[in-house]
Amino acid sequence: MAVSKAVMLMPRGIQVCVVALALFTATPSYAADTSAVGVHGMVVSESEDAARAGVEILKQGGNAVDAAVATALAVGVTNPAACGIGGGGFMLIYIAKAHAFYALDYRETAPLQARPDMYMRNGKPDEDLARDGILGVAVPGEIAGIDAALRRFGTMKFQQIAAPAEKLAGDGYAASPHLAGEIAQLASKLKNDPGLSQVFLKPDGSAPKAGDMIVEKNLAATLKSLCDDPVRNFYHGQVASALVAFMKARGGLLSAADLTNYRPDWRDPIRRRYEGYEVYAMPPPSSGGVVLEMLGALDSGHLAGLGVNSPPYLARLIEVMRQGFIDRERYADPDFIGVDVQKLLSDTNIQQLRERALHPKEMRPPPAAHDHGTSNLLVVDKDGNVVALTTTINTVFGAKMSVPALGLILNDEMDDFAVAPGVPNAYHLEGERANEVRPGKRPLSSMTPIIVTKSGVPVMTTGGSGGPTIVSGVLQVALNILAFHLDAASAVAEPRIHEQAAPDIVIVEQAMPPATRSALEQMGYKLKVVPNLGAVGAITIAPANLRGAFDPRKGGGAIGY
Ligand code: DON
Repeated sequence: MAVSKAVMLMPRGIQVCVVALALFTATPSYAADTSAVGVHGMVVSESEDAARAGVEILKQGGNAVDAAVATALAVGVTNPAACGIGGGGFMLIYIAKAHAFYALDYRETAPLQARPDMYMRNGKPDEDLARDGILGVAVPGEIAGIDAALRRFGTMKFQQIAAPAEKLAGDGYAASPHLAGEIAQLASKLKNDPGLSQVFLKPDGSAPKAGDMIVEKNLAATLKSLCDDPVRNFYHGQVASALVAFMKARGGLLSAADLTNYRPDWRDPIRRRYEGYEVYAMPPPSSGGVVLEMLGALDSGHLAGLGVNSPPYLARLIEVMRQGFIDRERYADPDFIGVDVQKLLSDTNIQQLRERALHPKEMRPPPAAHDHGTSNLLVVDKDGNVVALTTTINTVFGAKMSVPALGLILNDEMDDFAVAPGVPNAYHLEGERANEVRPGKRPLSSMTPIIVTKSGVPVMTTGGSGGPTIVSGVLQVALNILAFHLDAASAVAEPRIHEQAAPDIVIVEQAMPPATRSALEQMGYKLKVVPNLGAVGAITIAPANLRGAFDPRKGGGAIGY
């Protein structure tokens, strides 16, 4: 039996988020083994401890949903800057026995007291209010989503599944290089929050180093207090009371009614063909449709003949990404705005997108997105069930605030709304309106886990973190596997580019060969070279041959058995 385990990457420097789209500054060692082979099951996560938690549940007889939830809870402990019970996410699920796909949306919602103009001050939008503070906090969906997934498809009770996360939080875990880098970067902000500084900074206020132990006792107690009825205990019980009291004391909008009203949504997954494959994705408010549009525009494009990361291939990719991101303005929470996904994914729309990409005319650019944080995980079990899950508290350490007694870090997901609808931007009022703040609404997300089938059977899954670079990263890793036939580890490790229409610049990883960069510049593209873009994991799926890889850009674990 082939069994292997990928080791946690130790990057050559500390990885830190610096600017919007250059997500990780350290150059990862691509020589490190980021891949694993499994016969029965596979878990890929941006945290090795969390991947281990998922495999532990698989070995106890849990299915992919049980294991995905265990991994999500554990990564909320070990990558606390990225996700956790204060956040929300998307889960794309394939159940082999039913040959069916399910899309679970447990994204945060705007509080009932939220208003479209809540970030306007003296007639001007103040974006900072939507993050780094109490007004950035949206209603957490994480626990409700986990509960919904377990009730529908799980085989174990919450406490059994939460046990590895509770242990990691209570006994402590070694800070990953990535987490240590993020804490160091944000130390001055973490200092201002009693809960965050107590847990994540040393008594002298300095940041821990990679490998130092971090203990989250209060989070462990909160997880334990959820017992086997997490929704009742989180949204209606003591956790809700503590959260609401905290919000009241700090002038936040989130109320008891917000928590009791929160519901995750089972939505219809969306899909589109690509070169004989069917690609399944999360529907809006995810940007899954944008990836499907881009893949559709590249269908029958004979990419393999161009060569992986060849300049002509990259030029085509850039144009298609640009048009895809322009279409992204048309996506939003479908419960509030009519998003005609059928039309967006129709052959006509995709043909038009392809035309615009191949014969570009001046187009109106969408606003640049700005994100950090988030964690993606992928699970395949022995029965062929698959889960692709992305979860987030939005920017690094979310609102940079925590409820100390709960060990709960508050998200700043409100920043994913267009914070200022109607602000003069002649070219995108529609898009901004579609994604404006409304009470109870979910903000548009770039998180886009996908599962790809051939002849009805899953052959790969991928997903990532890194704001808008999730969309371009998932696209490129999928193409590396489907069009260029790379294995999972190579597909993930290949250098990537990112183009999102505005700003008018192509972001290129420094690992892209200089000759390729020059060729793109000679074609007229303006390039910005960054150390690394977002992180994308992948699993390729064949009978008794699962190959998983985490992204060396951020570190993590891939564990097969
Ligand atoms: O849902 C979104 O699009 C963002 N909140 C995701 C943020 C993110 O991926 C940051 N990643 N590193």
